[in-house]
Amino acid sequence: MSSTLIRGGLIVTALGRYEADVLAVDGKIVQIGAGLDVAADHVFDARGQYVIPGGVDPHAHMKITFKGVPSADDFTAATIAAAHGGTTTVFDFAFQEFGQPLPDAMAEWHAALAAAPPVTDVGAHLVIRDLTDPARVDELREIPAQGVTSFKLFMAYRNQFMVGDPAMWNTMKVAAETGAIVLVHAENGDAIDALISEALAGGNTAPPFHGTTRPIETEAEAVTRAVMFAELTGAKTYIVHTTCGPAIAPIVAAKMRGLPVYGETCPQYLLHDDSLLQGGDEGLKGIFSPPPRPAPAQDELWHALAGVGLDTIGTDHCAFPYTMRLERLEEDFSKVPNGVPGIEERLELIFDRGVRAGRLTLEQWVDLCCTTPARLMGLGGRKGVIEVGADADLVIWDPERTRTLSVATQKSNCDYNLYEGWQVTGTPSAVIAGGVPLVVDGALVDQPARGFLARGPAVEAAGV
Ligand code: URP
Ligand code: ZN
Ligand code: ZN
Repeated sequence: MSSTLIRGGLIVTALGRYEADVLAVDGKIVQIGAGLDVAADHVFDARGQYVIPGGVDPHAHMKITFKGVPSADDFTAATIAAAHGGTTTVFDFAFQEFGQPLPDAMAEWHAALAAAPPVTDVGAHLVIRDLTDPARVDELREIPAQGVTSFKLFMAYRNQFMVGDPAMWNTMKVAAETGAIVLVHAENGDAIDALISEALAGGNTAPPFHGTTRPIETEAEAVTRAVMFAELTGAKTYIVHTTCGPAIAPIVAAKMRGLPVYGETCPQYLLHDDSLLQGGDEGLKGIFSPPPRPAPAQDELWHALAGVGLDTIGTDHCAFPYTMRLERLEEDFSKVPNGVPGIEERLELIFDRGVRAGRLTLEQWVDLCCTTPARLMGLGGRKGVIEVGADADLVIWDPERTRTLSVATQKSNCDYNLYEGWQVTGTPSAVIAGGVPLVVDGALVDQPARGFLARGPAVEAAGV
């Protein structure tokens, strides 16, 4: 039996804030109240600090190889990085090969997780690449009972991950039957491929052409199509890494029609613009998809987070080494594996640039980064909340401590940091996962082998 007591902090949840002590025993929150008179194995004095639920990152890539390049982070490295930033639950993607039976895809993912044990809980989304064989459709019906209640579809990256309409339709039908949620990478892959061919034929090989060949229209069209499929099939649908107002508009319209359609964005879209693709070779840091947009899109995203349209902030962490990406750029921008690291910095960036900048409330920060991702991924009441009976994943947040983000201090194995040299104020002073201290004052104090997090179906909030 192990116990942890956090005294005197300001508890911040999606619903409000109040001062209280929190007691965790054997991994669960067992008591919340003022002046708890109990002994515990670990006691933290949180006066002057916030106590928030552990972060939930609904979108990260730990086991991924893209364009032949493997990620620099495995489950161990990526979750250690996540934990340092206050994230205690992370979702990865299990990829089906073309034609591969789905149980085999899941078995391979579980083997990879076991080979590099994570220090946080890890949930899985199953990426569907081919679902036209009726045998595969039957297999998909069995997947939610295995604790994987979310499927992922890519509408771009032909010959890599992209699915056609029949597979999209079949996946959404099974999701509607089983209560699973469908995550969608919404970009029109064929239009983008045509634009890339035109750019390359004209000798345009540099990073800015990654942006111009993936224009806003290709994202907005795909979001619209995904939403229409969601409406026709009845599938709960979650659009990942949304970048701008025109891509959010169909989500808002769907919400107004009462559909269970949700939107995610990521720090790289809120905090960087398309100038990231400039600067010669350095511009490859902006090669992620969809690409960073012109600066006005940032305001559109912040407003949709504070108002209506966007529900969560994920990272889309994808740690492809700069050095390997640079080699690929020698050929042209389209050969560079897309992606950006960022699993560690999410809570700090959104606190500093969102809450401290007056764009979000403390409660919205917790909701977007912890509570709603948990709820939509089938972990409502268990993760992302501070309630008796919930998992004791808790972060003591020092709102005044400042640190500088850098590749030199980050925990990811990646060889660059997208926010190099940026100062952020507000950082975790202690991270407790499963009721046990995991990171204290920036040091990993335990290395538990946590693992696969099985989930039920998402519980929808009334009216969304
Ligand atoms: O460029 C990106 N986003 N890479 C990761 C894979 C994906 O599209 O989510
Ligand atoms: Zn994507
Ligand atoms: Zn992704």
